[in-house]
Amino acid sequence: MLQASHADRFSFGLWTVGWQGVDVFGTAIRAPLDPEVAVAKLAELGAYGVSFHDNDVFPFNATAAEKSSAIQRVRRAVDRAGLVIPMVTTNLFSHPVFRDGAFTANDREVRRFALRKVADNLDIAAELGAGIIVFWGGREGAESGAAKDVRAALDRYKEAFDILTGYVIEQGYNMRFAIEPKPNEPRGDILLPTIGHALSFINELEHSEMVGLNPEVGHEEMASLNFAHGLAQALWHGKLFHVDLNGQNGPRYDQDLRFGAGNARGAFWTVDILESGGYEGPRHFDFKPPRTEDMEGVWESAAACMRNYLLLRSRTHAFRADPEVQAARVAARLDQLAQTTLAPGETLASMRSQTFDVEAAAARGMAFERLDQLALDYLYGIRS
Ligand code: GCO
Ligand code: MN
Ligand code: MN
Repeated sequence: MLQASHADRFSFGLWTVGWQGVDVFGTAIRAPLDPEVAVAKLAELGAYGVSFHDNDVFPFNATAAEKSSAIQRVRRAVDRAGLVIPMVTTNLFSHPVFRDGAFTANDREVRRFALRKVADNLDIAAELGAGIIVFWGGREGAESGAAKDVRAALDRYKEAFDILTGYVIEQGYNMRFAIEPKPNEPRGDILLPTIGHALSFINELEHSEMVGLNPEVGHEEMASLNFAHGLAQALWHGKLFHVDLNGQNGPRYDQDLRFGAGNARGAFWTVDILESGGYEGPRHFDFKPPRTEDMEGVWESAAACMRNYLLLRSRTHAFRADPEVQAARVAARLDQLAQTTLAPGETLASMRSQTFDVEAAAARGMAFERLDQLALDYLYGIRS
């Protein structure tokens, strides 16, 4: 039950297991990881796919020939391992040229360069059959109030998406874009900081139907938001195109713990909504194996991401299937929440004169504690 298989659709960013541990306070503690080795090992652990940034597989200054041979190497490794590449993303944050962002940099030449870099990467993604392109705008933002005209920056952000979706349509590529919100880090304040901000931005785009979200557990929790609620709303809008799963302990720096570590109760409801809410995309892990670990620890933590997902999946399934839970859901009137407030044919006017025993309703408890404790009993493993 806890062995991952292709049907589970687990995927990993190559930059996750490949993270060398460089942080603000220290240098690398692990050797570079060859993408081919990473692909083979992730396949062995049960993943079905890998994702990467352009510069995870070739350096920023690579020539056209170097790029193409690097891409062929990854493609061969992926084919050999029987994996797929569901998602590709563009590094618009590491090189110093992106110090003030890419699509929203004040410097117009930088914005034009960023568009060319993404277009090159869209061609690669199309060649590899990747259907999702993630846009994490980590450098789009500011540290100070005076330096950024936010409304102009949003105009430029929209312009970039309109141009790039236009390019995809023109080329006939079969791909959709997924914006990944984050409140801060590395910028002091990042544009499109939460799921909600990104959803309303998407509504303003020329090809909004092609653009959805790639929400990340840690990013919403850094802002003290409820990730499962965010996923539910993204699903409600038809905008959950991809997801970044990891672990976080409340509002602090982006911890990128393995999935299931950190806020375990949040992880329970995250798996519950992904499994019951109609999401069919990859279960993609974006975590950082801590600096304390050697390569053995890296693979341990990658395997644990999948193991924790499968564990929580079986717990949430059992929770929902339990007759006592079903009765408790009715006692909590969840069946009523699923009913329309007005009956078919009824109007506000036709029900206006009805009376209601306000005092009796006000005195009624909602029986939520019993229902929620049943969930915790499953999470803590006392019921199964
Ligand atoms: C972060 C982000 C990144 C993005 C990745 C995909 O906080 O560092 O989560 O890991 O997900 O760059 O574009
Ligand atoms: Mn992150
Ligand atoms: Mn991420």
